[in-house]
Amino acid sequence: VIARTSLLTLTVCGLLEGITLGVQQPPATQAAPAAPAAPQGPTAAEKYKNIQVLKIRADQLANTMQYFSAALGVQCGFCHVQTTDGWNYESDDRNAKKTTRKMIDMTLKFNAEQSDITLTCATCHHGRGEPERTPPLAQVMTPEEAAAAAARAAQFAARQGGPDAAPAGRGGAPANPPAGAPGAAGRGGPPRPTETADQVIDKFVEAVGGQAALAQAKTRVLKGTVTTRDLVTSPVTIQEKATGEYRVDIDAKQGPIVRVADGKAAWVKAFGNIHDLEGVEAAQVSRPSEFGLPLSFKQRYQTITVGRYGNLDGTETISLAARVSADVTEQMQFERQSGVLRRRLIQTRTPFGNLVETVDYSDYRDAGGIKMPFQIKYTTWNQNSTEKISEARVNVPIADAAFAKQ
Ligand code: HEC
Ligand code: HEC
Repeated sequence: VIARTSLLTLTVCGLLEGITLGVQQPPATQAAPAAPAAPQGPTAAEKYKNIQVLKIRADQLANTMQYFSAALGVQCGFCHVQTTDGWNYESDDRNAKKTTRKMIDMTLKFNAEQSDITLTCATCHHGRGEPERTPPLAQVMTPEEAAAAAARAAQFAARQGGPDAAPAGRGGAPANPPAGAPGAAGRGGPPRPTETADQVIDKFVEAVGGQAALAQAKTRVLKGTVTTRDLVTSPVTIQEKATGEYRVDIDAKQGPIVRVADGKAAWVKAFGNIHDLEGVEAAQVSRPSEFGLPLSFKQRYQTITVGRYGNLDGTETISLAARVSADVTEQMQFERQSGVLRRRLIQTRTPFGNLVETVDYSDYRDAGGIKMPFQIKYTTWNQNSTEKISEARVNVPIADAAFAKQ
């Protein structure tokens, strides 16, 4: 029975992959805080039953557990016991949990002694339960890596005055700036952008319909499909408001899955059970959404600065770096020419390392007087889902009941 239960859990996790959640939006009326307030609250040891080594706040526990799972490429059940009655997180019946306490000790001690080196779980584990004990064997290069290695060898030979002097490169693409670009000399890297953050945002606003049209768009209903990393495709419907309420319905083969974030709380309903989400998992419900973003930069982010020029699949981009909260930062890449948003990279800090997610937007089309991406790819440590929208309607009335927990 236990085996069946865990299988079910795994299936739910797989199915949930496409769903979403966006930046947890602060209520529209809330002013952006000036600086992250010093976090406070009960410790994990005070709130939970069996905390022996973690010295963190209770509100950091959920994200820390997500980070452990991500760093080792496992699910909660790798370290915790699940019975037919549900999870028994305080139990120490799994060896992996006991080993983890030693790992936490080791990591904390190391970091306390070394001020200039930071060890994280991912440093060694890199998405595996058991780290490698032996160095990897050499791999055949991809054609791109081989071409880059040949170019480096030729450069080296030209400098040394003989082709035989070329070193055996390790492979990998060269990080050269485009020839002739200003700033291409010296340490390299693209030139510093001349645009201000406001100019990048203004151009984005224009690119997706302009201030007036965007301000008119209060709700959005999207229909299409979502394909998860197990290559299963299911019909999906997304209902959302510009003020941040968000609901996604996935019509999965095993039964419907609903995820909702109402701006304050987030939950998932699958197989008839409702489960509240906290921490980064709550933020993930509406993460893929960009609806309302063009006009809400000031509310969503505490600070926004211009990053650098870059390139995404051959398209020139410019990036902005923004802080969402004390623990969450975002990097956004916009097309330099068209101005549209192409990628967001979200990093959530935990006491042991960062959790990373990306959202990729493409196939921008007109719908209801504004422009929006009809393909959204969302990638996290355990999900990889692609939404393909086939029908987008703006200002369709959405009943409040859609966002009520039921
Ligand atoms: C790599 C191992 C590992 C993974 C994976 C892991 N945990 Fe933990 N978890 C621990 C350890 C170790 C503790 C106890 C820490 C201590 O003693 O200070 C703990 C404690 C907890 C507690 C506190 C229980 C109590 O009352 O004492 C909860 C709740 C919890 N984990 C939830 C989760 C959830 C949910 C997941 C999956 C998202 C998860 N954990 C994944 C190792 C893990
Ligand atoms: C310096 C490298 C290093 C770091 C940092 C590290 N680990 Fe490990 N970890 C190992 C090695 C090596 C093993 C295998 C130990 C053995 O079996 O000899 C291991 C084993 C484990 C295991 C047991 C795996 C199994 O198959 O039972 C868990 C769980 C684990 N580590 C969790 C963590 C967590 C969580 C962190 C961060 C708090 C962490 N580790 C940080 C190197 C590391």
